[in-house]
Amino acid sequence: MTTLKVWDGFVRSFHWLLVISIAVLYFSIDEGMIELHFVAGFFTLALIATRLIWGFIGSKTAKLSALIHSPKAVFKSFKKPTDIIGHSAPGSYMVLAFFALIITQLTTGLMSSDGILTDGPLAQYVSSDTVDFANWLHRLNFDILLYAIGFHVLAIIIYRIKGKPLVKAMITGSKDLTAGESQTVVTKAPWLAWLIFAALLLLLIFTWAKEPLSYLFS
Ligand code: HEM
Ligand code: HEM
Repeated sequence: MTTLKVWDGFVRSFHWLLVISIAVLYFSIDEGMIELHFVAGFFTLALIATRLIWGFIGSKTAKLSALIHSPKAVFKSFKKPTDIIGHSAPGSYMVLAFFALIITQLTTGLMSSDGILTDGPLAQYVSSDTVDFANWLHRLNFDILLYAIGFHVLAIIIYRIKGKPLVKAMITGSKDLTAGESQTVVTKAPWLAWLIFAALLLLLIFTWAKEPLSYLFS
C-alpha cells in the first residue's frame, strides 16, 4: 500500500494549536484570568489570519478555493462516499462554518469589555451599545461554536466507524491510498506560513498584547 502526504505541516499544527487555544480561551474565562484570555485570543487571531492567507498561497489541500462545493455535491457524497484528497464536500462546509464562527468570536472579543477593568482593544472606537452587542454575541457565538465542535467530533467518529481514519491523517499528514487513487504531490513546505505567523504574532505582541502580557509576567 502506498501513502500520500495530504496535509502540510502548517495545516496540521494550525488544527491542533486551534484546539489548544480554544481550550485555553474557555478555561481562562472560567478561572477569571482575563489577561490570559486576551493573550490566547491574540495568538488565535495570528493563527487564523495565517491559515486564511495560506488558503491563497498554500498547499492544494489547504486552498480556500478547494472548500467551495455545491450543495448537490454534499448529497452525492452522502449517497456514494468517494475517497478524495483533501476535505470532502460536507467537510468543507464544516471548515467554512468554523472559520466564520472563529472570526466572529475574535471580532466580537476585540470589541468586548468585562465591565470592570478590561476592554478589548477595539472597544474604545465603538459606542457602548456596540460593546454591549459584541458582549452578547461573543457569549452566544461561543455556545454555537461548542455545538459545532460537538458535531465535528461526532462526524469524525462516524467516519472512523465507516472505515475512514481521518484523525491519523491530521496527525501524520499522510493518508493510505486505495487502489485507483493517483499519487501526485499536493503539499508545500510550510516555512512561508510559519514566517507569516511569526510576523503577525510579533506585530500583536508589540501592540495589543503588550499590556496583558506585562500583567501576566509581573
Ligand atoms: C476564538 C477566540 C475566543 C473565544 C473562544 C472566546 C471565548 C470567550 C468566552 C467563552 C467568554 C465568556 C462569555 C460568558 O460570560 O459567558 C468570553 C468572554 C470575554 N472575552 Fe473572549 N473569546 C475569544 C476571543 C477573545 C478576544 C480576542 C478578546 C479580546 C481581545 C476577548 C475578550 C473577552 C472579554 C472582554 C470577555 C468578558 C465579557 C464579559 O465579562 O461578559 N475574547 N470569551
Ligand atoms: C476545538 C475543537 C476543534 C476545532 C475548532 C476544530 C476545527 C477544525 C478545522 C477548522 C478543520 C479544518 C482544518 C483546515 O483545513 O485548516 C478541522 C479538520 C479536522 N479536525 Fe478538527 N477541530 C476541533 C477538534 C477536533 C478533534 C477533537 C478532532 C479529533 C477527534 C478533530 C479532528 C479533525 C480531523 C480529522 C480533521 C480533518 C477532516 C478531513 O479529513 O476533512 N478535530 N477541524
